[in-house]
Amino acid sequence: MNVIEQIAELREEIKEHKRNGRTVGFVPTMGYLHDGHLSLIKKARAENDIVVVSIFVNPLQFGPSEDYDSYPRDLRHDTSLAREAGADYLFAPSVQEMYAAAPSVSATVKDRTDVLCGKSRPGHFDGVATVVTKLFNIVLPERAYFGQKDAQQVAVVDGLIKDFNFPIKLVPVETVREDDGLAKSSRNIFLTPEERQEATALYKSLQAAREAIGNGQKNPETIIELMKTIIDTQTSGKIDYIEIYSYPELKPVDTLKGRIIIALAVRFSGARLIDNMIFNA
Ligand code: PAF
Repeated sequence: MNVIEQIAELREEIKEHKRNGRTVGFVPTMGYLHDGHLSLIKKARAENDIVVVSIFVNPLQFGPSEDYDSYPRDLRHDTSLAREAGADYLFAPSVQEMYAAAPSVSATVKDRTDVLCGKSRPGHFDGVATVVTKLFNIVLPERAYFGQKDAQQVAVVDGLIKDFNFPIKLVPVETVREDDGLAKSSRNIFLTPEERQEATALYKSLQAAREAIGNGQKNPETIIELMKTIIDTQTSGKIDYIEIYSYPELKPVDTLKGRIIIALAVRFSGARLIDNMIFNA
């Protein structure tokens, strides 16, 4: 695996592969790789001739009071994990390399952002859309792999690809979980041991919601109350949101039918965790 920090160098490599008719699969990440990322890389490996993984903690998608500075970073460990999972290139540019000049143009996401994380993280998805656009233009992949844990991000990237006519197939990949159900996340290391135990209630609340819907409950408010009770009684975390929408449109639903997303975000002392389930109600 080749580790590249310069845009121009990666472009040269990609150009050569394209000339030889090879397909490129792309896994954009912010590093501190875990099994969730590795499942994206392995899927990309299985479906493409060349696999590019990027590691870039994108300052544009963090709010002023968010964890940009403390976001975990470990390039050396990530390099060996990405290599073992089958990546051909690890693209790890500096902030200076990605944003050499103050931007004169940036992306603004107009739809699907007034709900879920978009509501509590203003500007976050504009930052994601801007960096993903830049990365797509640098890597020129045929396929791009995104984890379904960030379901709103998947919906936003889906809109970006369609609106800007990127000739790229978006491949959403199912959330990878710990044995006790907690969704894998780079931020899980910031949980105290007690919070780590409590955090299993997040997935339990989603399972309880799905079961209640399977048993005929069609009222979104009743499901949200059920989940709130589980999280409030079993954790010390503070609920940021529990919301239910149609998916991928992210529109409110009066009654639970069709394809829906149930999503939540909960703040613990050192980490804000998100999780979701998407299914046909
Ligand atoms: O999901 C992430 O890690 C980031 O939002 C992404 C897609 C790499 C853009 O910075």
